[in-house]
Amino acid sequence: MAIIRPTIIKRTRLKEARELRALSRSTKEYYEAFSDGYAAFYDNWPRAEDMFTDARYKDGYDNVAKVLADVAKPGEKVVDVGCGVGVWSALMAEGGAHVTGLDYAIGPLKKCGARRDERRLASRINVVLADGFRLSFRERTFDGATLNWVLAHVPVSRNAGFLREVGRVVKKNGWLVVSDSRWRGQEGGKEQVQLRDTDEGCYDIYKYYYDAEELRVLVSEEYGRVERLEITDYELICVATRREV
Ligand SMILES: C[S@@+](CC[C@H](N)C(=O)[O-])C[C@H]1O[C@@H](n2cnc3c(N)ncnc32)[C@H](O)[C@@H]1O
Repeated sequence: MAIIRPTIIKRTRLKEARELRALSRSTKEYYEAFSDGYAAFYDNWPRAEDMFTDARYKDGYDNVAKVLADVAKPGEKVVDVGCGVGVWSALMAEGGAHVTGLDYAIGPLKKCGARRDERRLASRINVVLADGFRLSFRERTFDGATLNWVLAHVPVSRNAGFLREVGRVVKKNGWLVVSDSRWRGQEGGKEQVQLRDTDEGCYDIYKYYYDAEELRVLVSEEYGRVERLEITDYELICVATRREV
């Protein structure tokens, strides 16, 4: 049976930093197992079904699509870190960008490859299995980078290092788009463990919710100048330009 989306059964505050290693492993296992669910989730977006019957939720995703279509220019080299099933990679490639879709989980990455092939984007999307903490690209390889609903799964204690690694592979003046769920007082706190139920089983997920100012400070300190920060009902979208490196 197709999984439409996970159910969050419980949200608890992260108590011990030593939980993090097991939690990071379990978060990755969840994404390995849940790629069918994410593909189904995105099928619902244009049809405005399921979560997207909430117009505020749909608007958030529509806005990300608009921002990425606007920022990623034809011919640019872009890295989509944590690309998942490849919806945003495909969108940018359809606009003429050359995209490297990168993810540490093979399940969603295969779906990204399938999407690329279905849409005849083989010449514009390259898929890479890798951890965003250790990118196997030279300094200043890309004109831009994007992180969509990925930073929230990076332990907040390590977010600076993660952004620096992304910034390392982007050229001076290159762009960054970060989108993520917005902190709005969710149960469990800003840094939380979510127990998510899927047809494949239950997984503990690490999730951190940024507020707008916190994301602005982080991106400006670790990447470069923040040009835009959009706050929608459920999401934050931050656009920045790489400083001199
Ligand atoms: C919520 S999904 C979002 C996927 C996609 N960006 C989107 O917006 O549809 C988070 C994705 O980030 C990936 N991810 C999380 N941490 C990662 C890391 N350290 N390195 C690479 N990928 C990571 C997961 O495997 C998953 O595919």
